[in-house]
Amino acid sequence: MSAVHPTRGDEPMLDPLQPRLYNVVYCSRSAPGVDAADVERIIASSRRRNPAVGITGLLVFGSGVFFQWLEGPRDSVTALMATLKSDPRHDTVVELSANEEVRERLFPEWDMEFVESTDIREVLLDALEDADDPKNIEALGILLEHIDAGELDAQ
Ligand SMILES: Cc1cc2nc3c(=O)[nH]c(=O)nc-3n(C[C@H](O)[C@H](O)[C@H](O)COP(=O)(O)O)c2cc1C
Repeated sequence: MSAVHPTRGDEPMLDPLQPRLYNVVYCSRSAPGVDAADVERIIASSRRRNPAVGITGLLVFGSGVFFQWLEGPRDSVTALMATLKSDPRHDTVVELSANEEVRERLFPEWDMEFVESTDIREVLLDALEDADDPKNIEALGILLEHIDAGELDAQ
């Protein structure tokens, strides 16, 4: 059964079991002096706040570069991106991709998971092995492309 059912209007009626998800991938440069303790604080506050707004994802930090995957309702992700852009702990926020689609979450258990930059390829390849949803396979491919393009090796 398809997750999207056509209706009279332009907007498809969505299967509540497979909601429309918005995702953003961005990278940024950490501000001078930002260290592991700051990253721990960011993760702790994200884990407190994200469940209430339906956001899940992962955050990678290495070589002075943040790389984050956010997924959730469009309004929540857009609002968080606006907050993030003015967070003084990083700058040069570059949005790498943004998509909205009906699919399962890539990381349903992760309110915000910290992943070491050396482990990110392995995490994505594991997720790819478990993925059945073609949209998720595509999304993981996009993430791997960003990683392989060396976005975490910058600076
Ligand atoms: C790289 C980075 C990633 C962040 N990720 C999140 C996140 O996933 N969720 C979140 O609520 N805050 C995140 N934050 C923190 C927000 O920018 C902000 O400090 C937090 O939402 C609290 O906002 P407020 O002080 O306006 O209440 C992140 C900050 C940085 C620098």
